[in-house]
Amino acid sequence: MSNIAIHPQTHAIGGPDTVRSPESWMQVRGLTKSFAGERALSGADLDLKRGEVHGLVGANGAGKSTLIRCLAGITHADDGTITIDGANLKQGSPKASEQAGLAFIHQELNLIQHFSALQNMLLGVPKKTRFGLIDWKRSGIRARQAAERIGIAFPLETRVSELSVADRWLIMIGKALMRDASMIAMDEPTASLSGPESERLFSIIRDLSASGVAILYVSHRLEEVLDLCDRITVLRDGRIVDHADRGHLDKKGLVRAIIGHDIKSEKDREHFAADRSSTPIFSARDVAWRDAVKGVSLDVYPGEVLALGGLVGAGRTEFAHLVAGVQRQDRGYFELGGQRVRIPDEATAVNLGIALVPEERRSEGLMLEQSVGYNINIASLRNLRAFAGLPFISGSKGRRQAEALVEKLRIKTPHITTRIASLSGGNQQKALIARWLGTGVKLLILDEPSRGVDVGAREEIHNAIRDLARAGVGIIVISSDVEELAILTDRVLVMREGRLSGELNGTDITENNIIELSYHDAEGGQGDTQ
Ligand SMILES: Nc1ncnc2c1ncn2[C@@H]1O[C@H](COP(=O)(O)OP(=O)(O)OP(=O)(O)O)[C@@H](O)[C@H]1O
Ligand SMILES: [Mg+2]
Repeated sequence: MSNIAIHPQTHAIGGPDTVRSPESWMQVRGLTKSFAGERALSGADLDLKRGEVHGLVGANGAGKSTLIRCLAGITHADDGTITIDGANLKQGSPKASEQAGLAFIHQELNLIQHFSALQNMLLGVPKKTRFGLIDWKRSGIRARQAAERIGIAFPLETRVSELSVADRWLIMIGKALMRDASMIAMDEPTASLSGPESERLFSIIRDLSASGVAILYVSHRLEEVLDLCDRITVLRDGRIVDHADRGHLDKKGLVRAIIGHDIKSEKDREHFAADRSSTPIFSARDVAWRDAVKGVSLDVYPGEVLALGGLVGAGRTEFAHLVAGVQRQDRGYFELGGQRVRIPDEATAVNLGIALVPEERRSEGLMLEQSVGYNINIASLRNLRAFAGLPFISGSKGRRQAEALVEKLRIKTPHITTRIASLSGGNQQKALIARWLGTGVKLLILDEPSRGVDVGAREEIHNAIRDLARAGVGIIVISSDVEELAILTDRVLVMREGRLSGELNGTDITENNIIELSYHDAEGGQGDTQ
């Protein structure tokens, strides 16, 4: 856990002579927005003080991102006002929002992959010289100062595509700081960060807040919201249903405000005990790829939910990519049901019954131009075609299957023909998981399955995972959420720097043990031993 020292403000957030009331720097009043007749926001109010960390929570589809996109000027509200420092904000103009000091890190990071970190930070820099050109040298210096302020350790020349999600977040924060932002809205920052990376982000957030930058913080992880935020606003179905100061809400109260009722604790649920004396449904033997995966061997048994823990960047996602044929391993081999198999590409993996629900759902998993139904049914395309002919979604079997899955996972969508790109982030994630239910899959790999999904949906996804396990499917769950691992599985393999560093069983699956193994090898682990 690193302690990031934030250097004293180098830019004006309001010097002594510009100090204004700390109360309500930004006021949102009656914000309303409909999409195709469906209300996404209904008269939402929000007050933001200078330098506060303000939590914005709500179920998938509650309207959080829509509210943030209205502030950003990306979405034009149908009704309502936004006042900043007493002045009316021109709506529907990203430029006006930026000039008003608002910065945004949206749910899906919009960085240009083949640009360097620095190039991304400089994109759209408003500072011009008197010749109308960007002063690259000065901007470059500012970028480096911002990078230093938040403790960016990698060279700014690194391409974004080579950086971890955690590092990409740092770029986005650096980008906001360069623009003298007075508020940074963060949509689900920790959804893709590991525990220590999240801690690091929290310390950055606390320091930013102390220096007067307000943070609007969206997250489904309620513990961290309760811990981090000075105030919390709860959205349900586009309306503000609750707001509270720190200490006036506990997790139970927050859950009730978010979904309207209590949820049962998942803790007491029985694990489906996999029979590990049978032939593994899937095995990896000494699998290696570049520097990321350095000789991993593991077995997954029918009906087993096996978890892969570790830090972001430990090689878990890369390993999943090898199994699913996204990349080809340099060394080692795989077995399915005891038979050696070659997995040269993704189509082969799918034909063999190996499915991956990827971490980067937007770029890797979804066909954004297609409907919800298409995205759900695409995996069973082969099965359905024989039935219904093409276009298969019009076939009643395909439609019924998609509708049943939408219902089962409570995917919030007007219709299965709705374009998936218009669903909220969490609902897109649920559609991706729905895709593999009922497709005759043998091994399902879920990379951060509950990333970005609300507390109710998380339980539905866990139930779906348990159902699949009970049906004999082998499941590998990659998750940085220790609570999730502890309730879902009874065996965790921890990866560190491309190798398995240890195995945890049953009650040994604790946050401390996982973190310990994320940094050190257990005795007898597959890591380097000196
Ligand atoms: N561009 C759009 N076109 C049509 N519908 C949209 C669009 N953007 C959002 N919606 C709908 O508005 C509602 C609110 O979505 P929003 O993305 O704001 O939810 P959210 O609270 O951010 O959810 P999540 O936690 O899943 O990210 C959803 O029902 C969504 O389907
Ligand atoms: Mg959202």
